[in-house]
Amino acid sequence: MSEVVIRGRGIVKEFRLGLTGRLRLRAVDGVDLEVVKGETVALVGESGSGKTTLGRILVGLLRPDRGTVTYREWGLGGRLPRHVRARLQVVFQNPDASLNPRMQVMDILAEAIRAAGDTDSREEVLDRAISLLEMVGLSADHLPKYPHELSGGEKQRVAIARALAMRPEVVLADEPVSALDAIVRAQILELMYRLQRDWGLTYIFISHDLSHVWYLSDRVAIMYAGQIAEVGPTEDIFREPAHPYTAMLLTSSTSVLPYKPRLTVRPVGESPSLISPPPGCRFHPRCPYATEQCRAERPELRPIGPGRLVACIHAEKVLRS
Ligand SMILES: Nc1ncnc2c1ncn2[C@@H]1O[C@H](COP(=O)(O)OP(=O)(O)OP(=O)(O)O)[C@@H](O)[C@H]1O
Ligand code: SF4
Ligand SMILES: [Mg+2]
Repeated sequence: MSEVVIRGRGIVKEFRLGLTGRLRLRAVDGVDLEVVKGETVALVGESGSGKTTLGRILVGLLRPDRGTVTYREWGLGGRLPRHVRARLQVVFQNPDASLNPRMQVMDILAEAIRAAGDTDSREEVLDRAISLLEMVGLSADHLPKYPHELSGGEKQRVAIARALAMRPEVVLADEPVSALDAIVRAQILELMYRLQRDWGLTYIFISHDLSHVWYLSDRVAIMYAGQIAEVGPTEDIFREPAHPYTAMLLTSSTSVLPYKPRLTVRPVGESPSLISPPPGCRFHPRCPYATEQCRAERPELRPIGPGRLVACIHAEKVLRS
């Protein structure tokens, strides 16, 4: 039986725009998503589809306007005990923005080790900082360095070590390798994979690179305009997309994947306004399968195969085509 660690139900998040705040942009609109212990679930979709907003809500960094998120027996809506908060960590795209430039690596790690309540003894903090650095492929030589004295890859390793210092169960990794060059990207992804295996971590992984999603994720949730278009095992969805938007994403991807998806959908149009999205299925203006029904009805997520859900009225036809 799979053990659900994070459960999001009916999540809605709006941002108010402009000086008066009268315009509302609905970044996440009615999302249900569960995250299972030890898995990597990837959030994939065009820029602005709501991945970061949803990811932050799922780890309690942002409060939804509607809906609920629970981490095990704790609701993420209010204040959490510190030891529970520590179990949900984040690694961001840009370590420059997340590491304090005025702190040495030693102090960055010591702060996290003390916050986790592991120890206050100077020697033990030092030992633990060194062992964390070794876990992420660095060494004690990095302790006296400031972030600007590290390479991009080393900074991201320090950010990962700092997250690990909190003994997390779930890590949100929001485009953790997009700012790095190709070789360092592969190294960091390999590191994430190894840490997951050794620590039993659960990842929520956000990436635009489908080859990274393929490499790291067990399941994938395809997001379109603040909603989930389909969700399920990565291999099944990449091989046989049931939602035309997934097929469009795969067709337009430049990532190197082990095979071609079965269905080709030529990319057309732009993602819609989130202030006044199209009625019915939001994808209908771009969808080659759209019918009158699609323009009138919002498709709900429904089962389409083992562990798979899709929000498309004509998914069976898409799968057959
Ligand atoms: N603080 C904010 N205030 C206003 N609008 C916001 C805010 N944060 C996000 N948005 C808007 O919400 C929508 C979803 O943003 P989000 O960052 O979640 O998308 P994303 O899928 O992560 O995109 P990207 O791939 O570019 O990172 C976008 O239209 C964005 O402009
Ligand atoms: S519901 Fe209709 S418009 Fe939406 S993706 Fe499916 S076929 Fe296309
Ligand atoms: Mg984002």
